[in-house]
Amino acid sequence: MQIFIDSADIEEIRDAAAMGVVDGVTTNPSLVAKTGRPFKDVLVDICEVVDGPISAEVIATDYDGMMTEARSLAKMHKNIVVKIPLIAEGLKAVRTLTDEGIRTNVTLCFSPTQGLLAAKAGATYVSPFIGRIDDISGNGMEIVEQLVTIYQNYGLPTQVLAASIRHPVHVVQASLIGAHVATLPHKVIHQLVKHPLTDSGLERFLADAKKIPSS
Ligand code: E4P
Repeated sequence: MQIFIDSADIEEIRDAAAMGVVDGVTTNPSLVAKTGRPFKDVLVDICEVVDGPISAEVIATDYDGMMTEARSLAKMHKNIVVKIPLIAEGLKAVRTLTDEGIRTNVTLCFSPTQGLLAAKAGATYVSPFIGRIDDISGNGMEIVEQLVTIYQNYGLPTQVLAASIRHPVHVVQASLIGAHVATLPHKVIHQLVKHPLTDSGLERFLADAKKIPSS
C-alpha cells in the first residue's frame, strides 16, 4: 500500500518524507487555509520536497471553472494530481481531464455507487472518506472494501485512496483490504512508528550500555 501524507504543512511533510515512508501528498482547501499561505506557494514547496503524486483541489463547482483551475494546477508541476469533488459537474471534468492526460483524485466519496461512477469517468484515484462516515455512526471501511472489489471485478484501473484516516487501526484495515493508497495525517504516521515495548526496550539497552566497560 502506498502511503501519502494528508497535510499542507511543509514542516510536517519534510519530517515524514525524511523517514522515507511518503509516496505522495494530499491537500485540501481546509489544510491549505491552516497554513495561512497562498495555495500555489504551498504547492511549489511541497513539489520540492516530495517526488510523487501531489493532490491539489479545485474550488470551482461548475465544469468550466473546474477545467480552468485544473489545467492551471496541472501546468505547475508534473506531479500535480487534480482533486475534483464527486458531483455531476466534477465527473464531466474528470472525463475531459482524463482524455487530456491529466491525473485526477476524486474526493468526498461516501458511497460505492459514487466511486463506481468516478472510476467509469476515468479517475486516477477515488478517495472514500472513512473517518467522516465513522463520525456519523457508519462504517467507512466498508466502502473501501466495496470499491476495491468493484474495481477488481471489472478491471478498472482507478486506485482506491483511503482518506479521512483517524488512527492506526484504520491503516491496518485499509492495508488488509488492499486499498492501493492511504493518506495519513502527520500525527497518525508518528502513531504508526511508536510502540511502548520499543521505547522500554531501548531504555533498557541504553542503561545496560553504560555498564559495558570501556576498552
Ligand atoms: C483527503 O484527501 C482529505 O484531505 C482528508 O483525508 C480529509 O480528512 P478529514 O476528514 O480528517 O478532514
